[in-house]
Amino acid sequence: MSTPFTIAIDGPAGAGKGTLARRLADHYRLNLLDTGLTYRAVAHKLLELGLPLDNVSAAETAARQVDLSNLDRTVLSAHAVGEAASKVAVIPTVRRILVEKQRVFAKAPPGAVLDGRDIGTVVCPDADIKLYVTASAEVRARRRLAEIESMGGSADFATILADIERRDERDMGRADSPLKPAADAHLLDTSEMAIEAAFLAAMAIVDEVLAKRNKA
Ligand code: C5P
Repeated sequence: MSTPFTIAIDGPAGAGKGTLARRLADHYRLNLLDTGLTYRAVAHKLLELGLPLDNVSAAETAARQVDLSNLDRTVLSAHAVGEAASKVAVIPTVRRILVEKQRVFAKAPPGAVLDGRDIGTVVCPDADIKLYVTASAEVRARRRLAEIESMGGSADFATILADIERRDERDMGRADSPLKPAADAHLLDTSEMAIEAAFLAAMAIVDEVLAKRNKA
Protein backbone atom coordinates (compact mmCIF):
# COMPACT_ATOMS: atom_id res chain seq x y z
CA MET A 1 0.00 0.00 0.00
CA SER A 2 1.75 3.18 -1.17
CA THR A 3 -0.56 6.18 -0.61
CA PRO A 4 -2.47 6.03 2.69
CA PHE A 5 -5.45 3.72 2.47
CA THR A 6 -8.60 4.73 4.34
CA ILE A 7 -11.52 2.66 5.53
CA ALA A 8 -14.42 4.72 6.90
CA ILE A 9 -16.94 2.97 9.12
CA ASP A 10 -20.10 4.72 10.31
CA GLY A 11 -23.23 3.65 12.08
CA PRO A 12 -25.29 4.02 15.25
CA ALA A 13 -24.15 3.03 18.77
CA GLY A 14 -23.90 -0.70 19.35
CA ALA A 15 -24.08 -1.84 15.72
CA GLY A 16 -20.71 -3.60 15.96
CA LYS A 17 -18.64 -1.04 14.06
CA GLY A 18 -15.95 -0.88 16.76
CA THR A 19 -15.26 -4.61 16.63
CA LEU A 20 -15.35 -4.58 12.85
CA ALA A 21 -12.95 -1.63 12.72
CA ARG A 22 -10.50 -3.42 15.03
CA ARG A 23 -10.63 -6.65 13.00
CA LEU A 24 -10.06 -4.80 9.72
CA ALA A 25 -7.20 -2.69 11.12
CA ASP A 26 -5.48 -5.84 12.45
CA HIS A 27 -5.96 -7.77 9.23
CA TYR A 28 -4.79 -5.02 6.86
CA ARG A 29 -2.20 -3.61 9.31
CA LEU A 30 -3.71 -0.13 9.32
CA ASN A 31 -3.84 2.46 12.09
CA LEU A 32 -7.10 2.52 14.04
CA LEU A 33 -9.10 5.43 15.45
CA ASP A 34 -12.39 5.15 17.31
CA THR A 35 -13.51 8.76 16.78
CA GLY A 36 -16.26 8.35 19.39
CA LEU A 37 -13.50 8.44 22.00
CA THR A 38 -12.56 11.98 20.93
CA TYR A 39 -16.11 13.26 21.63
CA ARG A 40 -16.16 11.22 24.83
CA ALA A 41 -12.86 12.84 25.94
CA VAL A 42 -14.41 16.31 25.57
CA ALA A 43 -17.54 15.28 27.49
CA HIS A 44 -15.48 13.59 30.20
CA LYS A 45 -13.42 16.75 30.72
CA LEU A 46 -16.57 18.88 31.19
CA LEU A 47 -18.10 16.33 33.58
CA GLU A 48 -14.84 16.26 35.54
CA LEU A 49 -14.85 20.06 35.81
CA GLY A 50 -18.53 20.05 36.79
CA LEU A 51 -19.41 22.26 33.80
CA PRO A 52 -22.63 22.07 31.78
CA LEU A 53 -22.33 20.17 28.49
CA ASP A 54 -23.50 23.20 26.49
CA ASN A 55 -20.65 25.41 27.73
CA VAL A 56 -19.25 26.09 24.25
CA SER A 57 -15.97 27.79 25.16
CA ALA A 58 -15.05 25.14 27.75
CA ALA A 59 -15.94 22.42 25.26
CA GLU A 60 -13.75 24.05 22.59
CA THR A 61 -10.83 24.25 25.01
CA ALA A 62 -11.31 20.59 25.94
CA ALA A 63 -11.50 19.65 22.24
CA ARG A 64 -8.19 21.44 21.52
CA GLN A 65 -6.59 19.50 24.36
CA VAL A 66 -7.67 16.08 23.05
CA ASP A 67 -4.58 13.97 22.40
CA LEU A 68 -5.36 11.12 20.00
CA SER A 69 -2.42 9.11 21.29
CA ASN A 70 -3.72 9.24 24.84
CA LEU A 71 -7.41 8.29 24.87
CA ASP A 72 -8.22 6.12 27.90
CA ARG A 73 -10.89 3.68 26.72
CA THR A 74 -11.49 2.32 30.23
CA VAL A 75 -12.46 5.71 31.62
CA LEU A 76 -14.22 6.93 28.49
CA SER A 77 -16.36 3.86 27.81
CA ALA A 78 -18.78 4.57 30.71
CA HIS A 79 -22.40 4.73 29.57
CA ALA A 80 -22.92 8.23 31.02
CA VAL A 81 -19.90 9.53 29.11
CA GLY A 82 -21.42 8.25 25.84
CA GLU A 83 -24.67 10.08 26.57
CA ALA A 84 -22.75 13.26 27.41
CA ALA A 85 -20.60 12.87 24.27
CA SER A 86 -23.66 12.99 22.04
CA LYS A 87 -24.54 16.34 23.66
CA VAL A 88 -21.15 18.00 23.08
CA ALA A 89 -21.10 16.48 19.56
CA VAL A 90 -23.82 18.91 18.45
CA ILE A 91 -21.46 21.91 18.93
CA PRO A 92 -20.12 22.79 15.43
CA THR A 93 -16.80 24.29 16.60
CA VAL A 94 -16.05 21.21 18.72
CA ARG A 95 -16.68 19.07 15.65
CA ARG A 96 -14.38 21.22 13.50
CA ILE A 97 -11.51 20.96 16.00
CA LEU A 98 -11.86 17.18 16.38
CA VAL A 99 -12.40 16.52 12.66
CA GLU A 100 -9.13 18.33 11.89
CA LYS A 101 -7.23 16.00 14.26
CA GLN A 102 -9.01 12.95 12.82
CA ARG A 103 -8.02 13.94 9.26
CA VAL A 104 -4.36 14.30 10.21
CA PHE A 105 -4.53 10.82 11.78
CA ALA A 106 -6.14 9.34 8.65
CA LYS A 107 -3.39 10.70 6.38
CA ALA A 108 -0.47 9.11 8.25
CA PRO A 109 0.97 6.12 6.39
CA PRO A 110 0.09 3.34 5.84
CA GLY A 111 -3.49 4.62 6.31
CA ALA A 112 -6.23 3.95 8.79
CA VAL A 113 -9.57 2.54 9.73
CA LEU A 114 -11.71 5.21 11.40
CA ASP A 115 -15.10 4.56 12.91
CA GLY A 116 -17.74 7.05 14.00
CA ARG A 117 -20.82 8.81 12.66
CA ASP A 118 -19.52 11.18 9.97
CA ILE A 119 -16.35 9.54 8.67
CA GLY A 120 -17.59 8.74 5.16
CA THR A 121 -19.61 11.94 4.85
CA VAL A 122 -17.37 14.61 6.46
CA VAL A 123 -14.03 13.44 7.89
CA CYS A 124 -12.82 11.31 4.96
CA PRO A 125 -15.22 11.85 2.05
CA ASP A 126 -12.55 10.40 -0.29
CA ALA A 127 -12.06 7.20 1.74
CA ASP A 128 -11.15 4.14 -0.35
CA ILE A 129 -13.90 2.14 1.37
CA LYS A 130 -17.01 3.34 3.19
CA LEU A 131 -19.05 0.97 5.29
CA TYR A 132 -22.30 1.82 7.06
CA VAL A 133 -22.90 -0.72 9.81
CA THR A 134 -26.33 -0.87 11.34
CA ALA A 135 -28.68 -3.13 13.32
CA SER A 136 -32.16 -2.73 14.78
CA ALA A 137 -32.39 -0.78 18.06
CA GLU A 138 -33.70 -3.94 19.84
CA VAL A 139 -30.72 -6.03 18.73
CA ARG A 140 -28.30 -3.28 19.77
CA ALA A 141 -29.98 -2.95 23.17
CA ARG A 142 -29.82 -6.73 23.67
CA ARG A 143 -26.10 -6.74 22.83
CA ARG A 144 -25.45 -3.84 25.21
CA LEU A 145 -27.32 -5.64 28.01
CA ALA A 146 -25.32 -8.85 27.39
CA GLU A 147 -22.11 -6.82 27.52
CA ILE A 148 -23.06 -5.20 30.84
CA GLU A 149 -24.06 -8.59 32.28
CA SER A 150 -20.84 -10.23 31.06
CA MET A 151 -18.95 -7.65 33.14
CA GLY A 152 -20.97 -8.62 36.21
CA GLY A 153 -23.33 -5.64 36.03
CA SER A 154 -27.08 -5.51 35.66
CA ALA A 155 -29.41 -3.21 33.78
CA ASP A 156 -32.96 -2.94 32.58
CA PHE A 157 -33.61 -3.76 28.89
CA ALA A 158 -36.31 -1.09 28.46
CA THR A 159 -34.02 1.61 29.89
CA ILE A 160 -31.15 0.62 27.60
CA LEU A 161 -33.46 0.54 24.57
CA ALA A 162 -34.81 4.00 25.42
CA ASP A 163 -31.23 5.33 25.79
CA ILE A 164 -30.25 3.90 22.42
CA GLU A 165 -33.30 5.36 20.71
CA ARG A 166 -32.66 8.77 22.27
CA ARG A 167 -29.01 8.70 21.19
CA ASP A 168 -29.99 7.68 17.62
CA GLU A 169 -32.42 10.57 17.49
CA ARG A 170 -29.80 13.06 18.67
CA ASP A 171 -27.10 11.72 16.30
CA MET A 172 -29.35 11.48 13.24
CA GLY A 173 -31.31 14.67 13.92
CA ARG A 174 -28.53 17.19 14.60
CA ALA A 175 -27.94 19.97 12.09
CA ASP A 176 -24.15 19.57 11.82
CA SER A 177 -22.87 16.26 10.37
CA PRO A 178 -25.87 14.07 11.20
CA LEU A 179 -25.43 10.30 11.18
CA LYS A 180 -26.39 9.00 7.74
CA PRO A 181 -24.86 6.64 5.19
CA ALA A 182 -22.62 8.29 2.56
CA ALA A 183 -24.11 7.94 -0.93
CA ASP A 184 -21.31 5.51 -1.87
CA ALA A 185 -21.28 3.49 1.39
CA HIS A 186 -21.73 -0.28 1.49
CA LEU A 187 -24.49 -1.14 3.93
CA LEU A 188 -23.95 -3.94 6.44
CA ASP A 189 -26.95 -4.82 8.59
CA THR A 190 -25.70 -6.89 11.54
CA SER A 191 -29.16 -7.50 13.09
CA GLU A 192 -29.07 -11.12 11.99
CA MET A 193 -25.39 -11.37 11.21
CA ALA A 194 -22.62 -12.51 13.56
CA ILE A 195 -19.61 -10.22 13.70
CA GLU A 196 -17.50 -12.87 11.94
CA ALA A 197 -19.88 -12.83 8.95
CA ALA A 198 -19.81 -9.03 8.90
CA PHE A 199 -16.00 -9.14 8.95
CA LEU A 200 -15.92 -11.59 6.03
CA ALA A 201 -18.36 -9.43 4.04
CA ALA A 202 -16.27 -6.32 4.73
CA MET A 203 -13.07 -8.17 3.80
CA ALA A 204 -14.53 -9.16 0.43
CA ILE A 205 -15.31 -5.49 -0.28
CA VAL A 206 -11.82 -4.32 0.78
CA ASP A 207 -10.04 -7.09 -1.17
CA GLU A 208 -11.88 -6.15 -4.35
CA VAL A 209 -10.88 -2.48 -4.02
CA LEU A 210 -7.27 -3.41 -3.21
CA ALA A 211 -7.06 -5.72 -6.24
CA LYS A 212 -8.25 -2.88 -8.51
CA ARG A 213 -5.85 -0.44 -6.88
CA ASN A 214 -2.88 -2.77 -7.33
CA LYS A 215 -3.74 -3.27 -11.01
CA ALA A 216 -4.01 0.48 -11.68
O1 C5P B 1 -19.32 5.79 19.13
P1 C5P B 1 -19.54 6.33 20.52
O2 C5P B 1 -20.73 5.76 21.21
O3 C5P B 1 -18.31 6.23 21.35
O4 C5P B 1 -19.81 7.89 20.31
C1 C5P B 1 -20.27 8.71 21.35
C2 C5P B 1 -21.02 9.90 20.75
O5 C5P B 1 -20.06 10.74 20.08
C3 C5P B 1 -22.03 9.53 19.68
O6 C5P B 1 -23.31 9.25 20.22
C4 C5P B 1 -22.04 10.77 18.80
O7 C5P B 1 -22.93 11.74 19.29
C5 C5P B 1 -20.65 11.31 18.92
N1 C5P B 1 -19.84 11.03 17.74
C6 C5P B 1 -19.98 11.88 16.66
N2 C5P B 1 -19.20 11.72 15.56
C7 C5P B 1 -18.31 10.72 15.48
C8 C5P B 1 -18.16 9.81 16.57
C9 C5P B 1 -18.98 10.00 17.69
O8 C5P B 1 -20.81 12.79 16.68
N3 C5P B 1 -17.54 10.60 14.40
